[in-house]
Amino acid sequence: MSTMRTELSFANLAGIETELLAVVATDTQTAKGSDARPAPVLLTAERAVQSAAAAVLASGEFKAGANEAVLLHAPAGLKAKRLLIVGLGKQAKATVDSVRSAAGTAVRFAKPRGIRELVFALPDADGLPAAPSTLGAVEGAFVGDFDPDTYRSDRKDQSVQSFTLAAPTAADKAALKAAFAEGVIIGESQNFTRELVNEPGNKLTPTILGQRAAEMASEVGLGWEVHSTEKLHELKMGAFWSVAQGSAEPPALIVLRYEPEGVKDGPVLGLVGKGITFDSGGISLKPGENMEKMKYDMAGGAAMIGAMRAIALLKPRVRVIAVVCATENMPDGKAQKPGDVQIAMSGKSIEIINTDAEGRLVLADGLSYAKQLGATHLIDAATLTGACVVALGMINAGAFSNDDATFEKFNAALATSGEKFWRLPLGDEYAEMIKSDIGDIKNTGGRWGGASTAAEFLKVFAEDTPWIHLDIAGMAWVEDSKPYIAKGPSGVGVRSILEWVRSY
Ligand code: BES
Ligand code: MN
Ligand code: ZN
Repeated sequence: MSTMRTELSFANLAGIETELLAVVATDTQTAKGSDARPAPVLLTAERAVQSAAAAVLASGEFKAGANEAVLLHAPAGLKAKRLLIVGLGKQAKATVDSVRSAAGTAVRFAKPRGIRELVFALPDADGLPAAPSTLGAVEGAFVGDFDPDTYRSDRKDQSVQSFTLAAPTAADKAALKAAFAEGVIIGESQNFTRELVNEPGNKLTPTILGQRAAEMASEVGLGWEVHSTEKLHELKMGAFWSVAQGSAEPPALIVLRYEPEGVKDGPVLGLVGKGITFDSGGISLKPGENMEKMKYDMAGGAAMIGAMRAIALLKPRVRVIAVVCATENMPDGKAQKPGDVQIAMSGKSIEIINTDAEGRLVLADGLSYAKQLGATHLIDAATLTGACVVALGMINAGAFSNDDATFEKFNAALATSGEKFWRLPLGDEYAEMIKSDIGDIKNTGGRWGGASTAAEFLKVFAEDTPWIHLDIAGMAWVEDSKPYIAKGPSGVGVRSILEWVRSY
């Protein structure tokens, strides 16, 4: 895992000796006419920095657009070798999330230039509260530091070795130190998830995913168990096994437990993750084009594992169990076939229409098992449907819930996490669409409303337990690199699931 050293400093910026000092600016221009010139303003009050930046800000060359960056060498009056100004965009729209991205942009600016050490100045501005901005900046720095090129034989590890956040001298030091420490844990946990998601199917089999989860759990003091085929049979997990039966690789039923000392009652939160380490579609084989992407079909499970790491280290006062159902989905002589009927752990019979709708099958038994283990509230995460990607693009992930109060807690968590989820509907009409002629339900509901019929399928297994379903199919993989995040696994969900847990 990335070993970026981090430090929080309250020193004057002008006196900091560093390879690169990054500061942020917003565009204060509110006029929209064709002659409205950008009016960038630095969010750093220190006079020496203001005067070092004055000429470039006045030049009109730098507009302080979101994640726009301009570099000055040997800035006059500063000990820093370089001054980088990163834009947050329009002043009125700048948020903590803009700060998160700006920190990532600064780190990703440094990396290819061989700059291994930098200082990021926390913006000093109304509307950007210091503690949340601190948290966001540190998270953003870790997110920015990640690159997916693990297996390049000529890989030059250009990771930033040291990231310092410089806060205004007048800041509330205790509050910022706490936020800073949290940001390190959360940023590292998100990257832990991304490392798992990045691994190819041959390197990260269900068994190895189980080992990686167990190693992490031992390190941070979580309880854990990793089961396989025998346990699936013992628990009568006919839905999970129906996917696993077609693969030469054994499945892994991964259980992680967080049991804070002295917490004997109250809710037990159940985190359930889809862990398909490769989704070929099975007998309903996917087209070859882009099939290689289906190594990331375990991103929901990896998000739960990463969230559990953060939970173990941040120690909220609530019990949490994670259940990750890991298997490949492969075509084989032993693979299940369209038309087969499977009996899930809950006893419900499922007619298999399409073996490529496998995520809901493994999650069905995962949800039942989390309930059996005592979960009073459920949340699942899965790269579940292409339909969700069609509906929301790669801008929002989908969210569904059978309980408004539980969903509201999740929605509130998004303000802190900065992740974008959009609630989509469930409903009896969707439930109608997955009724089977031969059994209780079928595993696909036809072409239309595919994200909602998939969610309705899961709801059958959540039953009356308050439950949230996150469809992250379009958001788990970044298709085009951005200034603040590499192309590749995003680690979406980790921060929001964690904040939801912390709201109990
Ligand atoms: N893993 C896929 C969904 C997916 C699609 C993830 C695109 C990431 C990007 C899932 O198992 C799947 O194949 N879903 C099918 C369901 C259909 C057969 C009802 C789909 O969405 O096409
Ligand atoms: Mn599939
Ligand atoms: Zn899948």
